[in-house]
Amino acid sequence: MNNEHKKITVVGAGNVGASCAQRIAERGYVDVVLMDIVESLPQGKALDILQSGPLLGFSNSIIGTNSYQETTNSDITIITAGVTRKPGMSRDDLLLANMEIVKGVTDNIVNYSPDSIIIMVTNPLDAMAQLAFRLSRFPRNRVIGMSGVLDTARFKAFIAMELNISVRDIQALVLGGHGDTMVPIPRLTTVSGIPIAEFLPEERINSIVDRTIKAGDEVLSKTGISAYYAPSAAIARMVDAIVLNENKILPCSAYLEGEYGINGVFVGVPVKLGRSGIEDIIEVKLTPQESEALMRSAEAVRELDKIMKLD
Ligand code: APR
Repeated sequence: MNNEHKKITVVGAGNVGASCAQRIAERGYVDVVLMDIVESLPQGKALDILQSGPLLGFSNSIIGTNSYQETTNSDITIITAGVTRKPGMSRDDLLLANMEIVKGVTDNIVNYSPDSIIIMVTNPLDAMAQLAFRLSRFPRNRVIGMSGVLDTARFKAFIAMELNISVRDIQALVLGGHGDTMVPIPRLTTVSGIPIAEFLPEERINSIVDRTIKAGDEVLSKTGISAYYAPSAAIARMVDAIVLNENKILPCSAYLEGEYGINGVFVGVPVKLGRSGIEDIIEVKLTPQESEALMRSAEAVRELDKIMKLD
């Protein structure tokens, strides 16, 4: 084992967690611990991923465990433990069940990996990030929600499909909570620097925005299970930015302390992701309409905090 490798724990060896463990293990530059409460499940999945190493050419460590002991001193802990939506459910319907799970997981992170960066994936993720932040008392740069990276990828994918152009040429931004109140920003969305309004009429843009907001539901209604290929790719993208100290600007759920006129709540905004987690929160000048939509999104997250009695 290369001692230079960062240690990444993925809590929850279900669809999102195992897929994420696979993606980050395949990067070859981190050691991965896959943790779940179900006996032998993470061990089996880790073994399966490990056995792809000789084929794909990675030799970093990946282990599965049911014990937090093995997660000790993780540099990053990704929380995917929890229950998922069934068709017809909203992410907010998961609040009470996942709150109990995330509480327990956070306590263990504090005990075993007090210097870890937490990436929250469990839904409703802005509220779950808030819960982990409050319970852990970690500084805000070390608690980050995975939302905007995924929502932006979905937005880009739909634009590329509509225009029949390379997805690589699209720069896009989605702000707000990871739910029905998310705020895609077409004004700041471009194709090779050209605003998308030059390519598409307003009603087509609006319909792509609407599809982006409901992208998770679209997958769920077709497959019957919560999405995991794109979510796991989004997590891996964030891990890259942190482990490789890329200082990359990505939209993530972050605890705001006055930025965008919002205080004391997690909401999706552009951040600079690097070695310390959130290195900076980027404030973009929004139109009054965009700003109002972001405020509404923050209020929706705040409502969930009240139910969790975090205030
Ligand atoms: N500690 C560790 N693992 C747990 C715990 C716990 N306290 N409670 C549940 N788990 C595990 C389950 O055993 C299961 O293996 O979490 C895993 C969840 O996996 P799936 O049911 O496949 O759910 P998944 O699709 O991975 O989604 C997980 O991510 O995107 C979000 O909305 C989604 O909140 C959900 C989470």
